[in-house]
Amino acid sequence: MSAKYFHLTVKEIIDETPDTKTFSFWHPIHQAISYKAGQFLTLIPEIEGKKVRRSYSMSSSPNKDASLAVTIKRVPGGLVSNYLCDNLKVGDAIETMEPMGHFVIEPNPTKERVIVLFGGGSGITPLMSIAKSVLPVETKTKVYLVYGSRNEENIIFKKQLDELEAQYSNRFKVLHVLSQPSYTWIGYKTRINQASAVTFLKQDFAIDIAKAEYYLCGPEGMMQHVEAAIKIFGVTDNQIHKEHFFSAHDEKAMEDEDEAGSLKEQTITIQYEGNDYTVVVKPHETILDAALRDDIDLPYSCQAGMCTACMGKCIAGKVSMDEEDGLTDNEIKQGYILTCVAHPTSSGVVIEID
Ligand SMILES: Cc1cc2nc3c(=O)[nH]c(=O)nc-3n(C[C@H](O)[C@H](O)[C@H](O)COP(=O)(O)OP(=O)(O)OC[C@H]3O[C@@H](n4cnc5c(N)ncnc54)[C@H](O)[C@@H]3O)c2cc1C
Ligand code: FES
Repeated sequence: MSAKYFHLTVKEIIDETPDTKTFSFWHPIHQAISYKAGQFLTLIPEIEGKKVRRSYSMSSSPNKDASLAVTIKRVPGGLVSNYLCDNLKVGDAIETMEPMGHFVIEPNPTKERVIVLFGGGSGITPLMSIAKSVLPVETKTKVYLVYGSRNEENIIFKKQLDELEAQYSNRFKVLHVLSQPSYTWIGYKTRINQASAVTFLKQDFAIDIAKAEYYLCGPEGMMQHVEAAIKIFGVTDNQIHKEHFFSAHDEKAMEDEDEAGSLKEQTITIQYEGNDYTVVVKPHETILDAALRDDIDLPYSCQAGMCTACMGKCIAGKVSMDEEDGLTDNEIKQGYILTCVAHPTSSGVVIEID
């Protein structure tokens, strides 16, 4: 099934921090876009004559906010985050794909639960949507947020979180954790790691760790530490939801320049829309990166192995994936791959894309 595309007009732009802006959009005329708290939009700006795609989680709540909003933090040297923060103006229209993603919550008024949100930096965006959506609907549910930022001025949504905490004072608690605060900061000065995560849950929130539901979104290291900490207390995989903003490939490549050492340049064939394309995939590239470099207009969205928009089938040769969570075991057995996280590991690879 092919994805739907929309053109959204910018309604308002809010400066959240010195490097982060919220862009809210009007719904298209005659057609409200429906989405779930925690999902993302894929924005498709045209930069220097080329369309590029990046995913941004919605910071708005589907059941509370009249318009859709995304919140974008500049990545130093990053193409799209800086382009949008510098150029997108109120009244401009931008192409987007329909909302996608499985990092979602569906508020249910009959539920009474404990939900713990762990966020770092721009990872607050889907968590903000989740908190704003759950609190008014699930009137017996308690929500706890641990939010890691560098310093006071980098805390995204500080005022909105304070207001939400005041409004739901007996059911919503926020703990700001700063890694490099000013000397006047009286809260925690630490990173979110395995040991500090346990302290927050046991001492600050005093919750039964084993029984809560967890939503994690932030740097990979932070999410790994929190997951390891809560699993010691018996939390199971189905209680843990994670959103990755960057693919494992990006993060590995950022950390370890030798990561591509075991991969070799391979020439592959991509069968798409009745054409056979020959593409050279370099060791640092994914199959999708290589195809886009050659201007082959393959389908994609999140570029992080989660949305399945880039799914193809490997019908010859061998392919490895940095991240397999987006596919079922059965799909993997049948040879399906996600081109945004896939690398050819043998000669003669042929990928078929519907
Ligand atoms: C599902 C999903 C939801 C997302 N939601 C949001 C959101 O709500 N808000 C938001 O701001 N971003 C979000 N992102 C990230 C966003 O899609 C882009 O990846 C980000 O804006 C960087 O794009 P860019 O074009 O500016 O940088 P690029 O030009 O793509 O990257 C430039 C360089 O920076 C590296 N890089 C990318 N990100 C980082 C980083 N964080 N730290 C260090 N180096 C980095 C890249 O590997 C590359 O080497 C989300 C991503 C996904 C997959
Ligand atoms: S583009 Fe989303 S899984 Fe590949």
